[in-house]
Amino acid sequence: MTVGHEQMNIVIVGHVDHGKSTFIGRLMADTGSLPDGKLEQVKATCAANSKPFEYAFLMDALKDEQAQGITIDTARVFFKTKKRHYIILDAPGHIEFLKNMVTGAARAEAAVLLIDAKEGVQENSRRHGYLLAMLGVKQVVVVINKMDLVNYDQTTYERVKEEYTAFLSEIGVQPKAFVPISAFHGQGLIEDSKEMPWFDGKSVLEHIDEFKKEEDKTNQPFRMPVQDIYKFTEENDDRRLVAGTIETGSINVGDEVIFYPSKKTSKVKSIEEFNAPVQTSSKAGNAVGLTLETQIYTRPGELMAKVDELQPKSGYEFKANIFWLGKKPMILDKRYKIKCGASGQPVYLKKISKVLDASDLSTNDVKKQIDRHDVAECIFQTTKPMAFDLTSELESTGRFVIVDDYEISGGGIITDTVESGKSRIEDYIEKRDFVWEKGKITQDNRISRFRQTPKLIIITGGEDKGKQELAKALEENLFKQDRNVYYLGLSNMLLSLGSDRAHKVQDRDAHIRQLGEVSHLFTDAGLIVVSTITNLDDQEASILKLLAQPSELIIVNIGESSLTDFPVDYQLDETLPLDRRLGRVLELLRKKSILLDDYAI
Ligand code: GTP
Ligand code: MG
Repeated sequence: MTVGHEQMNIVIVGHVDHGKSTFIGRLMADTGSLPDGKLEQVKATCAANSKPFEYAFLMDALKDEQAQGITIDTARVFFKTKKRHYIILDAPGHIEFLKNMVTGAARAEAAVLLIDAKEGVQENSRRHGYLLAMLGVKQVVVVINKMDLVNYDQTTYERVKEEYTAFLSEIGVQPKAFVPISAFHGQGLIEDSKEMPWFDGKSVLEHIDEFKKEEDKTNQPFRMPVQDIYKFTEENDDRRLVAGTIETGSINVGDEVIFYPSKKTSKVKSIEEFNAPVQTSSKAGNAVGLTLETQIYTRPGELMAKVDELQPKSGYEFKANIFWLGKKPMILDKRYKIKCGASGQPVYLKKISKVLDASDLSTNDVKKQIDRHDVAECIFQTTKPMAFDLTSELESTGRFVIVDDYEISGGGIITDTVESGKSRIEDYIEKRDFVWEKGKITQDNRISRFRQTPKLIIITGGEDKGKQELAKALEENLFKQDRNVYYLGLSNMLLSLGSDRAHKVQDRDAHIRQLGEVSHLFTDAGLIVVSTITNLDDQEASILKLLAQPSELIIVNIGESSLTDFPVDYQLDETLPLDRRLGRVLELLRKKSILLDDYAI
């Protein structure tokens, strides 16, 4: 395709066999968008095999060529008019199509929905229509195809049109137009049909050319999901590069930015694009690395916005409409993974408000699960706060997909926030403490027997700061003092984020959770638990604090801290030798009256 032409993504949808591929093949042929001789070649092959010619074969033939490397993209086909170039998002099967649509992999600006005149409105005619509405594809032309099979009869056309109009009005969709055609015989696609003089509307292509381009993403509020944080490797260079692809809006050097959900702010110091000179500004669609004027601690998965524009939302709960595609139904309280912006984290279905069968719009408000092809209004809950937009305010970052067993199993749009949204952990702890069957020995019994108050001590700080060494020394020292202490060493290997890759965040979350859970047991049994975590952040500290309850969490930090709001109980200078670090921690434990009869000797 030549550069410089306006482009538009459109999607062709409809029930199976209603003529999608034929329609696309015919459009390509009749607009002269096919490679020279292609049509003749396919026709000849059909004749040689005594097979009736199908326009749908054109698509297969083109795909074969594409597979041989002639075009780079196999998922899309192109056609062009005088006005612009079109990219047709080719969705081979029903499920693939739905998947592409709900995941946003195939973001269409407009749609053509085909209905077979003879078969009339079918299940997927309605389901696809609903989905277009849910996904916000507002420009739709409804094409009544195969009019030749009903002798180009106007009454049949009017009947199908009426039935489908009624359906669309129920879901609040107003199609741009209805057009009767015969894709196979080339009637009504490009120009007025000779066979249907009773129809006085425009041809499909005329309508397509009148579709409007969506608003330029550059003019929307700035959003950049943080994909990665790179540290500069040179000595004395403590700068970090915040990397990601700008989803919407634009950014300039000097702009004040804010990260969600941490709400940390800074100013953009420099902008770098891959393989390009340093920039003073950049915009939607570009992959960039930004340096900031102040050193703030941000994580992959955060959403970057500008301070003076529409702010994203963040919270533990949100309302959404989800379209479920999984073989297994979506159920309450199961751990799924949500991907929204750059954030990938555990998510739970907390409440199903309403389930809708998109093929007939019947609703069910007592259903306890979401089956394949159901659309549901529901509430989701996360363990860590998540940053997002409402789709009504900003489309791209208001959309999410749900992964179940490594497979994309559903997609949805965020419709609202939940004011009193509680963390999954808080809910869980309430339940846990409620069902916990206690023995006869109380915490006080254990405290006086063991002469210590059980605590979870976390030693944190950057990598290679001697955290484990200190933790082990502390365990040894306390043990020698006859204390009941345990060094919980599951952390470092598993918890190390390495190069801060986003996909490791999920594993890290799981281990933080595990650590909190195990510590809860051990401290409940009266022990002092010592463990280490590299670069513990505010969110993680709050999760550990909650899980460890009723025991307290004590945080000792070595060197630069990655905690900003969560209080550090003791800050150790990283230049201190081990014995002095140990001395300081022991002193802290005494001050906090953790070692009870320490002064009684
Ligand atoms: P799937 O991809 O399987 O969902 O089907 P599709 O919607 O792509 O339908 P396709 O274009 O493969 O057409 C299905 C059958 O209907 C083919 O045999 C076509 O030749 C036939 N067909 C499509 N359009 C017309 C038409 O306008 N008139 C007639 N008579 N047949 C048509
Ligand atoms: Mg097809």
